[in-house]
Amino acid sequence: MDIENKVIVITGAAQGLGKTFANDLAARKARLALADINMEQLEQVRGACEEAGIEARAYELNVADEPAVEKLFEQVVVDFGTVDVLINNAGITRDGLMARKKDEEIKKMSLANWQAVIDVNLTGTFLCGREFFVKLLEQKKPGVCVNISSISRSGNLGQSNYTATKAGVAEMTVTWAKEMARHGIRVGAIAPGYINTEMVAAIREDVKQKIIEQIPIRRLGDPSEISHSVFYILENDYFTGRVIECDGGLRI
Ligand code: CAA
Repeated sequence: MDIENKVIVITGAAQGLGKTFANDLAARKARLALADINMEQLEQVRGACEEAGIEARAYELNVADEPAVEKLFEQVVVDFGTVDVLINNAGITRDGLMARKKDEEIKKMSLANWQAVIDVNLTGTFLCGREFFVKLLEQKKPGVCVNISSISRSGNLGQSNYTATKAGVAEMTVTWAKEMARHGIRVGAIAPGYINTEMVAAIREDVKQKIIEQIPIRRLGDPSEISHSVFYILENDYFTGRVIECDGGLRI
């Protein structure tokens, strides 16, 4: 697929990897439908994309809200006339150990923190993928869906909720690729390692240093290094049903 002029929906576009994808795809002259729950920050991203000379629109969206996701894809097709690509990126963390004993006090991961991450990262990814495919089938056209998994899909201390969702996202990618190939639709995923975003910045400094020491390349990834993987999935017409691991060699 040629990226230029394609209509690309990016969820979670107000910050982190989503914001970088928006800027980097604007530089490649895509047309962008940017969605996020945080409209104030999203407007800034939209403005920056427009300055790159492309059409960019901002949409308020909670990816876990089924009617809202259905409405978003309806509206994108009305506004742009079509849709070609989904970057299924919105995600949150609520890190904490399952059960932890410190100074005789036992703490545990709350059900609320479990559910919040499942709702956004797993249900949200499912809903956005489904509605994107519905629109492609209605229009009888090919397209590409890029899911964002994580190195944490293989298990990570303090992330029971997040690992469950990111493993689910990786395996849904394989399933969707098998289901959608007959319609000319490809589905790929990226499992980033520790990338220099707000999410990683929020990790306690001492813990973050321990993590960086374990990365063979000895540094955090740059968000644009993950955009590079997005470009690869979009541009390689033989790529589907697989997960690109871009993590500085951290995953064993
Ligand atoms: N590697 C090595 N050691 C680690 C570690 C890691 N990844 N994570 C935690 N530890 C260590 C801590 O340093 C601590 O060691 P000591 O007991 O020797 O001091 C021990 O494990 C217990 O941890 P805490 O004292 O920090 O326990 P806590 O209850 O205060 O906090 C926690 C638990 C919130 C999970 C915290 O350890 C933490 O934030 N860990 C990092 C979790 C993480 O990797 N999150 C990724 C966020 S970014 C992201 O998710 C994007 C992505 O896709 C990768």
